[in-house]
Amino acid sequence: MKKDKVTVKTFYQMKKSGEKIACLTAYDFFTAKILDEIGIDCILVGDSANMVFYGHKTTLSIGVDQMVYHTQAVSSAVKRALVIADMPFLSYQTSSSDAILNSGRFLKEGGAEGVKIEGGLEMAETIKRMIEMGIPVMGHIGLIPQSIHQLGGYSVQGKDEKKRKYLLESAKKLEEIGCFSIVLESITKELGKEISESIRIPTIGIGAGLSCDGQILVVNDILGLFEEFKPKFVRRYAELGKEIRRACERYREDVKSGKFPSDEESY
Ligand code: KIV
Repeated sequence: MKKDKVTVKTFYQMKKSGEKIACLTAYDFFTAKILDEIGIDCILVGDSANMVFYGHKTTLSIGVDQMVYHTQAVSSAVKRALVIADMPFLSYQTSSSDAILNSGRFLKEGGAEGVKIEGGLEMAETIKRMIEMGIPVMGHIGLIPQSIHQLGGYSVQGKDEKKRKYLLESAKKLEEIGCFSIVLESITKELGKEISESIRIPTIGIGAGLSCDGQILVVNDILGLFEEFKPKFVRRYAELGKEIRRACERYREDVKSGKFPSDEESY
């Protein structure tokens, strides 16, 4: 594992050299510390926190203060990975100045090194202004969860020609205005390949196939900590939800039956 600090420049170099970029989400100090130590290249403080940390049905209701708080916890644990914070719903769509002021909070107070913004062509003017102000921006197109009610559900995007064209044009526009990478969510693997081969900045796929320059998943999903539902693109590497249940049940039984604490565990 390379020890050098990952920056947005490293992202470009990795795309050039063909080294895949491994990204995960994190929302707290302890998880972020482990991910950083094992060599995850980029840690996204995702607004998925609203679902997997706070238990809400969508990402919509999380606020900037909450996201800054999680970003502080993550960035204080991280030495090597690039830390990116997700901009919450309505913290950037309303105006460029809202976007600049709110994203600035993630860099100034949260310790993030960039922010992620959902949306393509329609967000280009705002994102351009942010980048001009020195704020690195990761784009996010395809299935954009903040528009879930407009999309009408978590379905695969870009299957029809009109949407495919829009996504390809959006990716090219995001590259042109200076985004340092783009998350591609829930699109066909063919479109993931086409977009990845059409731009020089790295694509980070989540349900967008193997041709993306990197991959990202929600950490709670890969650890089996989020048991509500499992999208097709998630691979579970552990069943920590079950493990936690078993451990806590054993503790409860030991307390009830008087087996805990033992003499060795007492003063
Ligand atoms: O909020 C999130 O976790 C995301 C993903 C890209 C994983 O936006």
